[in-house]
Amino acid sequence: MNPMTSCCLIVGCFWLAIFCGSSTCMLAYNDDHPHKWEMLYLVHQWPVTVCKMNDHDCKDPILYWTIHGLWPDKAEDCNSTWHFDMSEIKDLMDDMNKYWPDVIHPNHTRFWKHEWDKHGTCAASLESLNSQKKYFGKALDVYKKIDLNSYLLKIGIKPGNSSLQLAAIRDALTSIYNVTPKIQCLAPEEGQLQTLAQIKFCLTKEFTLRNCTEPKSDSPPAHEDHFFKMENLLNCNDTLVYYPSHVHLYK
Ligand SMILES: *[C@@H]1O[C@H](CO)[C@@H](O)[C@H](O)[C@H]1NC(C)=O
Ligand SMILES: *[C@@H]1O[C@H](CO)[C@@H](O)[C@H](O)[C@H]1NC(C)=O
Ligand SMILES: *[C@@H]1O[C@H](CO)[C@@H](O)[C@H](O)[C@H]1NC(C)=O
Ligand SMILES: *[C@@H]1O[C@H](CO)[C@@H](O)[C@H](O)[C@H]1NC(C)=O
Ligand SMILES: *[C@@H]1O[C@H](CO)[C@@H](O)[C@H](O)[C@H]1NC(C)=O
Repeated sequence: MNPMTSCCLIVGCFWLAIFCGSSTCMLAYNDDHPHKWEMLYLVHQWPVTVCKMNDHDCKDPILYWTIHGLWPDKAEDCNSTWHFDMSEIKDLMDDMNKYWPDVIHPNHTRFWKHEWDKHGTCAASLESLNSQKKYFGKALDVYKKIDLNSYLLKIGIKPGNSSLQLAAIRDALTSIYNVTPKIQCLAPEEGQLQTLAQIKFCLTKEFTLRNCTEPKSDSPPAHEDHFFKMENLLNCNDTLVYYPSHVHLYK
């Protein structure tokens, strides 16, 4: 191969790479639905772990799973001009305060605004979620229907227990719901156990439970929510897991 040919080959490959790269870009760009998503997560959080992750001692922490959010899997921040308006959800206030509190700050408004801005504006592409009242109301309905707190107690999985096997929790949930939720943990500190943090149930656009297997698609998954500094949660490992009943800050 003479130097001229190999040079052309290299240049050719270079252009081919550019072309292929930009054509996938074009496809993504021309998509009719720039914020396409396929399923929803109803994310439950364990308040004690949230407190710990935020270095907050949360005197008298809440001892039931609360809502973190209702999140489309592949879209976020979809409409910056659609502002959160507390007056639209005033009828939901009792449930919002009880089941969807900001476990760190006494005023929950900033948390709800964040959830609406980041996730609600994307979920609103569904007619059944296309207002703030529908979005927050539906999340509360689904949360009550899943009723995770009652089921966990019924099968004897109680906070304060540090001899729970992750697999036992997961298998119990799978047999109750016929789907396997994602269970996320805070990685252990030196000599400690992983700590239970979040349980994410996956839902279809019709709000039925589904398995969380990744749907085939080119769009990247949305990021973890950063409101509570929980971006470094991991899937729990198949070992013992700590389900804390009080905040213990190691410092
Ligand atoms: C964004 O929200 C505004 C205000 O509610 C609305 O008028 C507009 O249609 C929305 N845009 C999209 C693309 O949904
Ligand atoms: C919470 O903060 C919002 C604005 O950030 C304010 O409008 C609202 O009145 C506050 N709520 C309470 C209960 O203090
Ligand atoms: C903790 O969970 C294990 C396994 O389910 C159970 O055998 C044990 O009795 C529980 N301990 C407490 C203190 O609840
Ligand atoms: C979820 O997956 C489990 C195990 O693969 C399966 O038995 C179950 O039927 C699935 N559930 C749904 C709703 O598809
Ligand atoms: C699970 O195990 C891997 C490999 O040992 C480790 O890197 C990761 O931090 C563990 N995750 C949790 C939540 O402990």
